Amino acid sequence: MTAQLADMSRAAALLRAGELVAFPTETVYGLGADARNPLAIGKIFAAKGRPADHPLIVHLPEAAHLDRWAVDIPAAAGKLAAAFWPGPLTLILRRHPAVLDAVTGGQDTVGLRVPNHPLALQLLREFDGGVAAPSANRFGRVSPTTAAHVREELGDAVAMILDGGPCAVGIESTILDLSGSEPRILRPGMLDANAIGAVLGRPPMFGGQQNAPRVSGSLEAHYAPRTRLQLVAAADLAATAREALDSGRRVAVLAAQPLAFSHGRLLCCPASTDAAQFAHDLYARLRELDAMACDVILVAAPPADERWRAVADRLRRAAAGSK
Ligand code: TXA
Ligand code: MG
Repeated sequence: MTAQLADMSRAAALLRAGELVAFPTETVYGLGADARNPLAIGKIFAAKGRPADHPLIVHLPEAAHLDRWAVDIPAAAGKLAAAFWPGPLTLILRRHPAVLDAVTGGQDTVGLRVPNHPLALQLLREFDGGVAAPSANRFGRVSPTTAAHVREELGDAVAMILDGGPCAVGIESTILDLSGSEPRILRPGMLDANAIGAVLGRPPMFGGQQNAPRVSGSLEAHYAPRTRLQLVAAADLAATAREALDSGRRVAVLAAQPLAFSHGRLLCCPASTDAAQFAHDLYARLRELDAMACDVILVAAPPADERWRAVADRLRRAAAGSK
């Protein structure tokens, strides 16, 4: 977990030179570039195959940097930063005029966060600036939660990959828009609406307004494995699996309870009944199952509970993206 000091200064020097450095955060691995350098930002879009109008999150070493990137910062931003940074929360604020259009997708807002991972924080402090970083995967695919995932996805497109072990949270940060009249969660994450509401003094709304900022994580088809993924009510899992097996398919099942029967073309993968653990494991499991050459991955639908909202959101998009 502790990268050599030399690695860290090399990583910061590469960022200063306009190169891409992948680094761990507590949520997923990020593909980092100097947020003030348009050529470096261009390399992110090229490496990911991401549409150029999709905005990037700028990662900061500490909340004290906020006013270099945002203006008209509401008091709520300071309260939330004090409560949750470093941590899995991205704040959408009105952009400072110096922020590059390539980072904001030309919008008048910017996404900012201080990530909670020792290597990310060391890198950001050593670099002493903003690092724009989307998840370090190809556009639309499953986000990486280990350094090996980043290597598989992006290989030589990155100058350096900092290995900080598996990500603790496992799915992307909660995105909260504070640029409008009401705080709105644009992307649910493991930091949930109840925790945010407790600090704000009232619960945030969900979803963007009309003409809302573009969030690629809000596209219906996203976070998708290559194998078709189907969400199935736990009670229907056995029957759905049988039907698929009977029609000759190879079937993977991701569920807390293994099915009561076995079959040569059936692979059962245990899933946690705890939302945080399920989120932690989710993307690694999807990658493993994707490598098994099954025809379909059946996933037991999670409970309709606030703690499962972010996981349910990613599973729904993975299902839509893999059709
Ligand atoms: O946990 C995370 O947030 C990870 C780690 C690396 O920090 N990053 C991440 O980045 O998930 P990315 O690019 O895969 O997703 C960032 C999301 C995108 O959906 C983007 O559209 C949205 O943040 N976003 C960025 N700036 C925005 C803005 N100004 N307004 C609305 N959405 C914005
Ligand atoms: Mg992403």
